[in-house]
Amino acid sequence: MSAIAPLAQRLLHRLTTPLLPDDYLTLFNPQWSQRTLQARIVAVDRETDDATTLTLRPPARWGGHRAGQYLRVGAVVDGVRHSRCYSISSAPTTAGGDIQITVKAIADGRVSQALAHQTRVNDYLEISDAEGAFCWPEAIPQRALFISAGSGITPLMSMARDAAAQGRLPALTWLHYAPRQNDVILGTALQALADAHPQIDLQLICTREGGQHLTPADLASRCPDWTTRPAWSCGPTALLETVEALWAETPDAAPLTVERFRPRAVPLSDVTGGRLTFLSSGGGVDSDGRTSMLETAEAAGLMPKHGCRMGICHGCTVKLKQGQVRDLRTGQCFGDEDDLIQICVCAPAGDVAIEL
Ligand SMILES: Cc1cc2nc3c(=O)[nH]c(=O)nc-3n(C[C@H](O)[C@H](O)[C@H](O)COP(=O)(O)OP(=O)(O)OC[C@H]3O[C@@H](n4cnc5c(N)ncnc54)[C@H](O)[C@@H]3O)c2cc1C
Ligand code: FES
Repeated sequence: MSAIAPLAQRLLHRLTTPLLPDDYLTLFNPQWSQRTLQARIVAVDRETDDATTLTLRPPARWGGHRAGQYLRVGAVVDGVRHSRCYSISSAPTTAGGDIQITVKAIADGRVSQALAHQTRVNDYLEISDAEGAFCWPEAIPQRALFISAGSGITPLMSMARDAAAQGRLPALTWLHYAPRQNDVILGTALQALADAHPQIDLQLICTREGGQHLTPADLASRCPDWTTRPAWSCGPTALLETVEALWAETPDAAPLTVERFRPRAVPLSDVTGGRLTFLSSGGGVDSDGRTSMLETAEAAGLMPKHGCRMGICHGCTVKLKQGQVRDLRTGQCFGDEDDLIQICVCAPAGDVAIEL
């Protein structure tokens, strides 16, 4: 992994690459870059076997964040630059303050494995400004409900820490799911927060140690007044589907706000793919019609530009030149020549040619 290489390595790289003025500055201190935001890693803390909290020191001109927001992190892994989103797990600080992200290594995950297991103090990571609307409203409610699982705890941790720091913590029922006690990401900090604030009713459910996955009956018994509490939920797709179905069946319930780490995908039973042709790079590859064109292109060795990988940022948009594509979030097919398509959430529906 590289975050940013040590000085000697950077010098060598620069000597063999045409330089821009910004490059001379970043040679000596990556944080002097005016083109990119480079955060220095000042602490690396192992949370669980597969999750790590990175404490980042952003450059002074980084714009700060609202609790619950995420940032895009650029990392070079095996010579290829990738971008992934990570929610900030720390509370907002004053300008120049450190922030934390907590990364769970996914099996075969290109970036999460590198960030969670190979990052070192004094590495640099390229970051974006904070984005996202998974936040407290201006007036933090008197009572609230959090439902999280796995690494989905991160934005909620930031929100709870923020409200606690402001002395505005609501009466908060917090259901958090993990396979086992040892798998609870940010578990020590979560317990400490709950111990320090009696208004937090923390219910930790370990599903491989006797605990049940969320069901409507279970929610009603754990939080009898759940329909009256504004709720925030973040976690794996299965949890979010259960939560959203429950709220959809209960139209009178107080509002639910959801944060997804992966795009919503509809089940696709009967789809055909086709040949995906890359007009600018040359060549093409067969597609199964279910895998995003971004992932298909990456598997074919291309490095398309991208940001969020879930249809939010438009950082992956390319021009469709021929054929139709399927939006994997809705199952709908669309496309005319010269349409701009988001390749992170679309797959070919038949033979397709794109300007990539
Ligand atoms: C708004 C937002 C906030 C996020 N916040 C966090 C966070 O705080 N902590 C954190 O650890 N992650 C977070 N993520 C997820 C993160 O962006 C990456 O998707 C994740 O780290 C996997 O990247 P990768 O490169 O390792 O996997 P890839 O190499 O891209 O994928 C490897 C395999 O894992 C699958 N996969 C990809 N993402 C996930 C996922 N999230 N869960 C399960 N399987 C997956 C892929 O389909 C593929 O099969 C967030 C995502 C978003 C959109
Ligand atoms: S990468 Fe953000 S919309 Fe595709």
